Amino acid sequence: MSETAQLKIGDKTFELPVIEGTEGEKAIDISKLRDQSGYVTLDIGYKNTGATKSAITFLDGEKGILKYRGYSIEQLAENASFIEVAYLLIYGELPKEQELADFQYQISRHTLVHEDMKKFFDGFPSKSHPMGQLSSLIGALAAFNPESLKPGLSAGEVNLEIMKLLAKMSTVVSWIYKKSLGHPVVYPQNKYDYVTNFLYMTFAERTEDYKVDRVVVDVMNKLLILHADHEQNCSTSTVRIVGSSDANLYASISAGISALWGPLHGGANQAVIEMLEKIKNDGGDTDKWIAKAKDKNDPFRLMGFGHRVYKNFDPRAKIIKKACDDILEKLGINDEVLEIAKKLEEVALKDPYFVERKLYPNVDFYSGIIYRALGFPTEMFTVLFALGRLPGWIAQWKEMKANKEPIGRPRQIYTGDTDREYKDIKER
Ligand code: SDX
Repeated sequence: MSETAQLKIGDKTFELPVIEGTEGEKAIDISKLRDQSGYVTLDIGYKNTGATKSAITFLDGEKGILKYRGYSIEQLAENASFIEVAYLLIYGELPKEQELADFQYQISRHTLVHEDMKKFFDGFPSKSHPMGQLSSLIGALAAFNPESLKPGLSAGEVNLEIMKLLAKMSTVVSWIYKKSLGHPVVYPQNKYDYVTNFLYMTFAERTEDYKVDRVVVDVMNKLLILHADHEQNCSTSTVRIVGSSDANLYASISAGISALWGPLHGGANQAVIEMLEKIKNDGGDTDKWIAKAKDKNDPFRLMGFGHRVYKNFDPRAKIIKKACDDILEKLGINDEVLEIAKKLEEVALKDPYFVERKLYPNVDFYSGIIYRALGFPTEMFTVLFALGRLPGWIAQWKEMKANKEPIGRPRQIYTGDTDREYKDIKER
């Protein structure tokens, strides 16, 4: 007999089915609640509400566990390449050698972006935020792939759009970086793998030969893997709900990029470095800034700390922190803000305010220090988060489509004025 939940409203009792996931999570299925009782539920911020059933990513916030398609993030970060993890997220299995080679080949056939896209790109002010450029350019790709707007695309047609998007986003990200320097873009080299090609387009110059450092390729693979998916976070939920209206893939991903931009979400990696720089320039007094973060009258928050789901260490933060030490040592970089970050973490993890609220470093706390060591400007950090999250967004969008989910349309509780009579403007 499967478990049920009973909801008593007045003198009526409603029996609601309970569903259980493969990792033992349980949910009360309220999909028929309004029809049966006339009531809806209210859960502002969806802290207690599951929006879907998904087989892509599992995370346990209490235990600090993260798995993509059943593989732990620790195993994948240690052993896999980013493009291998992208395949795993999108198709559900780790690729065999030939499958991976075909996937990489397919993507490399689409790394060129239509030259007319440069007309949009050149129109951005040189100091415009990279996330605004990225969201606009990815949305604009639909204009250059009108076949993607056709309703009822076949699986093969959807797959072609996925290849194009994976390929072109890395090219567009490198364009945005070049624009921040006022340098000309560098074209892709199809002989390179995905991450090497991205780094080549980003850091090579037209004026001389450039060899991508293997050390940088390895840490970039790891960072992109760690950002690749994270179940129903703000930007992924955005991608799913936009896609649920049958909007095309480019429009759905463009919306996800905009959601990720916010400093409470992906924009936190930029905000962390800006915060660490501010603390450094203020003399490095971490106690003063911890006190500000705790002060309810002070809007300052410890960026990179806390998480909606993780009430334990974000497993990604642990891996990134170690990668931080490794890459700075390998590159011979001594970054003062790393020491400030470590001091903040040490103090916060002993402070009752953070301990009681289960606030730990999240994925954004250390990632910016690595990006900076690799040579990226702070404003590019969230764009790099988006590049890493792209296969996860695609996988989630594809799953929502495959499951033929209905258009997302939450209900509300109205609290505004009722029954008012219109007054002529002279009488107001
Ligand atoms: C990402 O969802 C995902 O999976 C996202 C992500 C992904 O991979 O997609 O993991 C990526 O977005 C990571 C989070 C990056 N954001 C930041 O680092 C910004 C700083 N953190 C916070 O603003 C906050 O922790 C959130 C937004 C991440 C989570 O907010 P919640 O779950 O809504 O929690 P809350 O704001 O209700 O905070 C609970 C309490 C509050 O205090 P009280 O009202 O209980 O007294 O903790 C406090 C908050 O004031 N608090 C903080 C804090 N974060 C929460 N106080 C100081 N500094 C902080 N960073």
